[in-house]
Amino acid sequence: MKLYTRFAAAMLGALAALSSAQAQPFMTNVYGRETQSLNGKWDAIVDLYDQGRRNRIYLDRKAQGKTDFYEYSFENGLRLDVPSDWNSRMPELKYYEGTVWYARRFDAPQHEGRRLFLHFGGVNYRCRVYLNGEPVGSHEGGFTPFQMEVTDRVKPQGNFLAVEVNNTRTPDAIPAMSFDWWNYGGITRDVQLVSVPQTFVEDYFIRLEPAGDRIAADVKLSQAAAGVAVRIEIPELKIDRTAQSDEQGAVVLSIPVKRLERWSPEQPKLYRVIVSTADDRVEEQIGLRTLRVEGEDIYLNDRPVFLRSVSFHEEIPQRRGRAFSEADAVMLLSEAKALGCNAIRLAHYPQNEYTVRLAERMGFLLWEEIPVWQGIDFANGATRAKAEGMIREMIHRDKNRCALTFWGVANETQPSSARDEFLRHLIRCCREIDSTRLIVAAFDLVRFDRERQVFVMNDPFIEALDVVAVNKYMGWYHPWPLEPERAVWDVARGKPLVISEFGGEALYGQHGPDDVASSWSEEYQERLYRDNLRMFENIPNLRGVSPWVLFDFRSPFRFHPTNQEDWNRKGLVSDQGYRKKAWYLMKKYYEEKQALR
Ligand code: GCU
Repeated sequence: MKLYTRFAAAMLGALAALSSAQAQPFMTNVYGRETQSLNGKWDAIVDLYDQGRRNRIYLDRKAQGKTDFYEYSFENGLRLDVPSDWNSRMPELKYYEGTVWYARRFDAPQHEGRRLFLHFGGVNYRCRVYLNGEPVGSHEGGFTPFQMEVTDRVKPQGNFLAVEVNNTRTPDAIPAMSFDWWNYGGITRDVQLVSVPQTFVEDYFIRLEPAGDRIAADVKLSQAAAGVAVRIEIPELKIDRTAQSDEQGAVVLSIPVKRLERWSPEQPKLYRVIVSTADDRVEEQIGLRTLRVEGEDIYLNDRPVFLRSVSFHEEIPQRRGRAFSEADAVMLLSEAKALGCNAIRLAHYPQNEYTVRLAERMGFLLWEEIPVWQGIDFANGATRAKAEGMIREMIHRDKNRCALTFWGVANETQPSSARDEFLRHLIRCCREIDSTRLIVAAFDLVRFDRERQVFVMNDPFIEALDVVAVNKYMGWYHPWPLEPERAVWDVARGKPLVISEFGGEALYGQHGPDDVASSWSEEYQERLYRDNLRMFENIPNLRGVSPWVLFDFRSPFRFHPTNQEDWNRKGLVSDQGYRKKAWYLMKKYYEEKQALR
């Protein structure tokens, strides 16, 4: 299949997958376009019994005659910040799962001859959007962007935007009925009104080709407009190419390049890239690097790399809420940098664009995944379509981020034919849009074989992956069957293996014996880390480790009244930002690993 037809096919695939969400494929790099922010204080109504849609409160009607009355009003009531989550806004909503209506008014200075889109960075978990009393779209999935065209519905003054948000867990959703993080509901990321010309640069994918001597540049215009001149500039590399779009509105170039400074965690070099036509112009910073797996090694720019990783949830412990801003990203990523990391596993869902873009600028290899996290209904076609939509939206948003190294398709699934088919479908979707990255999944299936006295794993599905990841809690969920220094692994040989989770809980400031798990002591956690790091030396194909987790995080799983209080305490850093003893052990391990490079 010729390259551009594959690219166009991918775009059409994205459209098909998204059509179920009644959204359209969102445009690439919204932050590089002409936008009006709709962030700020929105009016809100808590709709526990879902009466709002039945009563069409999105019409925002007011009593006219003496006999009129309406049992709702968006004025003078609850106000919620956008972006944010409602759970951390007030104690009554801490555990709330249900519907909340958000509404605001806005003016839209005339955009003569331009097209207007409402763009949402993320709404958890599902929503319907109404503008000036009309439904304009819906979306399901709490962690990926979506948009709807509103060109013909926006007025210059007094637009009324209502968003019906619901975060109720359901068995066919992704994630499903229970997951070890807080179910923050709301419009949890930026909302923008985007203005573009009639025919605009809708999508592009710019990256270094595997041989490292050419830059691939695929561009897709918003409609099948043939013969439109599309210009691609990378000034610092003296690249300035123009090509005519084909009958599908696509341009595909392969541009020779010399004397390139490749992106890496040590040298996170980015280049200013401009994509333009006579009517439109979008620019951003893009890094260029090569990535591949060969045998049991991961190669970045033709050099084997070891992942000094860590995970964090999209949560600001000190503020008690969903992280959403650049400032939040600075706090989370600065702590990872201080630990000595060159990689981040963004658990367990696509995190906001500020975090991804800042991580790239700071020099982190990224693992991003959709929340296929235990208990997924793999036999359900509707669930599979949702997973496909999330995968496409995630890759569509971040494919130009060279820091993105791994697409994660699952966390801790159990072997079954339904699971295999579901995940093989997701892998096909990944590769259809982006054949340049490594596909990974995390498993918790490693067990100790008493006869052989080695740790083993039996799940043939791993052959479908580029890299195999293992979550293993030795010393926490699993007591040691032998001394750590004698714990040898024979897992996924022939492929790179990453420890994607390990660790144990400790309450910051709580001290006690280092051999009693129920002490929840820093000493116990520190010893657990020491033992695991010792075991890792006996994993011949180990190419990275990622402690679970950088910060304590909130979870309804965690009931212990004094040690947890709704917090998962596996953080190396407490919910107040204090580093536990194990943090210093991990820092020293990463310093030694870096010295070995
Ligand atoms: C699991 C899971 C994490 C969870 C962790 C824990 O492996 O992947 O999401 O938080 O274990 O039990 O703390």
